Amino acid sequence: MKIKNVVVIGSGTMGSGIAAQLCNANIPVTLLDLKTEISEKAKKRIFESKPPLLIDKSKINNIRIGNIDENFEIVKKADWIVEAVVERIDVKHKIYEKILKNRKKESIISSNTSTIPLKVLSSKMSMQDKKDFCITHFFNPVRYMGLLEIVSETNNDINKINFLKDFCENSLGKGVIICKDTPGFLGNRVGVYALQVAMTEAIKMKLSIEEADAIFGRPMGIPKTGVFGLYDLIGIDLMLDVLKSFKKELPKSDSFHLVAQEIPFIKEMVNRGFTGRKGKGGFYRMNRTGGGPKVLEALSYNLTKYFPAEKIDLSIDDKIDIKKLVSRNDKYGKYAWSVISKIILYASSLIPNVTKDYNNIDEAMRLGFNWTKGPFEMLEELGVKFFVEKDNQLKTNEFIKKLYDKKNNNFYGKRQIYTNLETLGKVKQLAKINKDNKSAIIYEHKDYKIVEFNTKANTLDYDSMDALKKASDKNMIIINEGMQFSAGVNLNYVMDFAKEKNWKAIEKFIHHFQMTCKQLKYSNNVVVSAPSGLALGGGFEVLVQSDYVVAHANIVTGLVETLVGLIPAGGGTTNMLWRWMQTQEAKKDPDFAPQKVFDIIGYGKTANSPIEAMPFKFLLEKDKNIMNRNKLLSVSQDLINEKKDGYKPPKKPTFKLSGSQVRGKMFQTLEKLFKEKKILEHGMEVGKKLAFVLSGGNTTINKELSEDDMYALELEVFVQLIQMEKTQARIKHTLSTGKPLVN
Ligand code: NAI
Repeated sequence: MKIKNVVVIGSGTMGSGIAAQLCNANIPVTLLDLKTEISEKAKKRIFESKPPLLIDKSKINNIRIGNIDENFEIVKKADWIVEAVVERIDVKHKIYEKILKNRKKESIISSNTSTIPLKVLSSKMSMQDKKDFCITHFFNPVRYMGLLEIVSETNNDINKINFLKDFCENSLGKGVIICKDTPGFLGNRVGVYALQVAMTEAIKMKLSIEEADAIFGRPMGIPKTGVFGLYDLIGIDLMLDVLKSFKKELPKSDSFHLVAQEIPFIKEMVNRGFTGRKGKGGFYRMNRTGGGPKVLEALSYNLTKYFPAEKIDLSIDDKIDIKKLVSRNDKYGKYAWSVISKIILYASSLIPNVTKDYNNIDEAMRLGFNWTKGPFEMLEELGVKFFVEKDNQLKTNEFIKKLYDKKNNNFYGKRQIYTNLETLGKVKQLAKINKDNKSAIIYEHKDYKIVEFNTKANTLDYDSMDALKKASDKNMIIINEGMQFSAGVNLNYVMDFAKEKNWKAIEKFIHHFQMTCKQLKYSNNVVVSAPSGLALGGGFEVLVQSDYVVAHANIVTGLVETLVGLIPAGGGTTNMLWRWMQTQEAKKDPDFAPQKVFDIIGYGKTANSPIEAMPFKFLLEKDKNIMNRNKLLSVSQDLINEKKDGYKPPKKPTFKLSGSQVRGKMFQTLEKLFKEKKILEHGMEVGKKLAFVLSGGNTTINKELSEDDMYALELEVFVQLIQMEKTQARIKHTLSTGKPLVN
């Protein structure tokens, strides 16, 4: 069997997302809807989507569109037919009847339903057709969410199901978990329960919306949208529908019912159009009063009135420590315990009937909800004894009781059992661990080392560099399980020094950063960076000075320092300049490369995939683009094995730059932008400083500059910029709002 041709029926949110991911994998796909105009709009939406569903705009050429009346013939040729129409059984049954009359017998058919049981969907099918029918439950947005649940039943042709699993894993890059036909499968069963517990407990314990989201968020290893923020994002109306279906499908004895009671004021909100971000607002809204700037507001519970959202200070550091959190003696600790204990109890009540593999529940939460740890990993971290004995009100269940009686604190066993790939999660369990460093963990496995940053968004500080330096005595892979490879240098860390006017400390840190990256580049060992998520600023500087990059298809990468009033000074400016100096154009015109890089860094340009990164030279031909995140480690290992014998570090580059000549051209560009009001005073200042570095400083074209000369220029300018009030204002603004300040 081969999947060379796919038809997706229904071009809404999910159908278009699935079609886009097939396009990314270069699989020809036809998107059918009731009318061609609807699928045409979907195609346009895919093309213009932000964040982009396509890894490159050209991928749109893999898509054909049509309608189910005139273009259904195409189903005859399809190897896989995906149904993603509205969640109505009558509509779905009609579509299946039509598909089954037309499809070729080798094909496989699946539904993207999130709530309708497989046995209900296939109830009208012959035994033969049932063999080839399953549920493929993707998560929104399809390109970015790792989870795909395949729901199969005993009647299925198991070879076909396994084939589809392999295809979705390898070609579409999904973490595929095979599930039983039970309500909500794994992800939503536990995920929606968790959200509902977080919401109902917050109401019961009279926590504000902001307080609940501050706890049920980063401190628990959960995305910062928390519970109320996430409901706004998904749509509060949609969540009410999902709850209705759970209530219908689950037996009365299931404790889901305890958290799924209708909350009158939420129903009232939906009736009045407050459905979340897509509606008039939700638990939060952005509001502008009297011509001022937009302000984030949050709803007060009983008043149904919005107030400016409060920032909650939990006085905890960035490290996730669940045990410490639930042990706090204040309302936050009590809320955290109440929510976490209920989630753990609920998840463990699903073993073995819903799944015998608790690890699959953890991985579903990781892949489908971006949690750092699933409920069973949380249990292991707390310790079974601690969990059971903490609270005499706690009613345990069979699963927990057994662990407790056996005194089984380290019960966990293998990770990521849903895949045969040698993943980072699996290797971390086997490797020798060195946890001496507070910003990164070093693992030693076979003949190489792994460095995994572990700060918030993996931002980099002195210790992160120490870890890299320490690991560079062997071949090394820099990789991460958390969401981001690295969002850049830790600006809080830099600002703490700036507040004390301790410029020396900043200079020391940046110098250490440069020296470490140089060590990566010139050591006698192969260094591979394997990024996923953000690899920005300092994160990109680590990539650009590694020997090879094995990049996940969803990376966001580039140099964004100028947006916060700085320049890349960890070798980023110099290395980008060197890359552009290798082009044909640069050989003819010495000012070509500096100007090109001035443009790229000056505008803080970023790429949303490895393919988009190539034209900027953020990545090169020698680097790799990988669809499945779980493969990053094994591809990096293979690369090390291929390159390590006879490996020689690169030669040190030299630079011939025209100094004031090219700087003049750059200043002209800046003046034009200033006149057009595209940049303001400080934009001009930062631009000029960048120009100074890229032009080689006080040099002339015949003078040869070493790489160290260039690094020194980077450092000099960085230290000048950080001392400027307007740079500090930019940093403060970005740290508090996540957005750039134009000043
Ligand atoms: P949607 O409402 O965005 O899109 C449904 C599309 O189906 C519309 O374009 C509609 O015109 C089309 N349609 C309706 N009847 C049709 C027919 N007879 N033939 C062809 N097209 C028809 O819905 P959405 O959100 O994309 O959901 C689709 C399926 O995916 C549902 O089963 C839903 O439960 C499931 N799902 C939705 C998720 C989400 O986050 N929205 C997540 C996972 C699954």
